[in-house]
Amino acid sequence: MRAWDRGDEVLAERARQREEADAETLEELEREGIELDPVTPGTHRHGDLEHPSDHAHPHAHSEPGERPVTGIIGAGAVGLALGIALDRAGWPVQAVASRDAARRDRFRDALGARVRAFAEPTALVDDVELVILAVPDDVVAPLAATLRLYAGQAIVHTSGVLGADALAPALGAGSQAGGFHPLVAFADLERALASLPGATVAIEGDDDLVAHLADMAEAIGAVPVRLVAGSKAAYHAAAVMAAGGVVALLDVIREIAAATGLDEAGALRIYLPLVEQTIANARALGVAGSLTGPAPRGDAGTIGLHLAALDTDAAAAKAVYRALLERDVVIAEGRGSLAPDAAKRLRTALAGDR
Ligand SMILES: NC(=O)c1ccc[n+]([C@@H]2O[C@H](COP(=O)([O-])OP(=O)(O)OC[C@H]3O[C@@H](n4cnc5c(N)ncnc54)[C@H](OP(=O)(O)O)[C@@H]3O)[C@@H](O)[C@H]2O)c1
Repeated sequence: MRAWDRGDEVLAERARQREEADAETLEELEREGIELDPVTPGTHRHGDLEHPSDHAHPHAHSEPGERPVTGIIGAGAVGLALGIALDRAGWPVQAVASRDAARRDRFRDALGARVRAFAEPTALVDDVELVILAVPDDVVAPLAATLRLYAGQAIVHTSGVLGADALAPALGAGSQAGGFHPLVAFADLERALASLPGATVAIEGDDDLVAHLADMAEAIGAVPVRLVAGSKAAYHAAAVMAAGGVVALLDVIREIAAATGLDEAGALRIYLPLVEQTIANARALGVAGSLTGPAPRGDAGTIGLHLAALDTDAAAAKAVYRALLERDVVIAEGRGSLAPDAAKRLRTALAGDR
């Protein structure tokens, strides 16, 4: 991918001079009535940088300094939203691959009929310089094993937990692999698009690829970060707690509130403002500073009443209640607001009939 090399101005200038020289030679030969393809076998000359001699594949090329021609494999939640965001940012998304005809159509409806749509991921690779794999985590490595990149191309996945090494099977000489993980919950297309500006994007890969991925993140208004090596699984586990973990908690709130006769809409109407207030408190006061409830007060009797009520009305929620209150006790101890004997009483109440 020539765009990867945009920092290498010397190489670019040399290649430009070579091309000018080639053009002059061609003109001379043509004047002599001789036709000759100036492309040396095994090299590319689509622009001003030469590809390695083992690269003899006609994939798409951007012009020097331009953003890489990009294709997305997987037109699911992330693939579609990222495609639209990049397209709106003027990032050239040229192709999509999805096994599903309706998803291919939806992608082209959103980005325009100029986007080439493929049922086969392997066909897309021929059309682009940067391949984005937006497929389930478990599919990344097996799918990468079916692809073969050529020199100058790069491939990234959008997984929050996998390293770029999961893409190694797709790499040929001179190609690169990376990661581009937006810290956004892609539950709804328009909401995801609205959330991308300002969102964190974890990027990884070789330095020159990372520079382009940072550009790509910034183009959609996001904030690129590089994670400390080996920390990606922990980073993603925290993300899962921030998204699916909160959803699970909301579901527990819904279940317990049902015992009071509230349906889901009623429970959300009543309890979401409290959730939002707690989040605002955490933002202003920090995690420990935002803790309220029976744990920091040492109200062991309240916990006993709660557990008895849950036994009757929401038994499935009891384990989550216990686990979270045990954590609240630890937080309260940590901020020094709980005497040791009070903490002991709370733990005894939480253990209950266990
Ligand atoms: N959802 C989120 O909030 C979120 C946030 C950040 C990052 N991510 C990451 O983004 C990636 C994609 O997640 P998603 O939520 O977009 O998933 P998704 O909505 O389920 O979409 C996955 C896409 O991958 C394609 N696919 C599935 N199996 C395939 C296979 N065997 N071969 C080829 N294509 C296959 C699907 O199929 P078709 O070919 O049938 O279209 C679909 O288009 C994951 O790595 C995920 O961890 C997700």
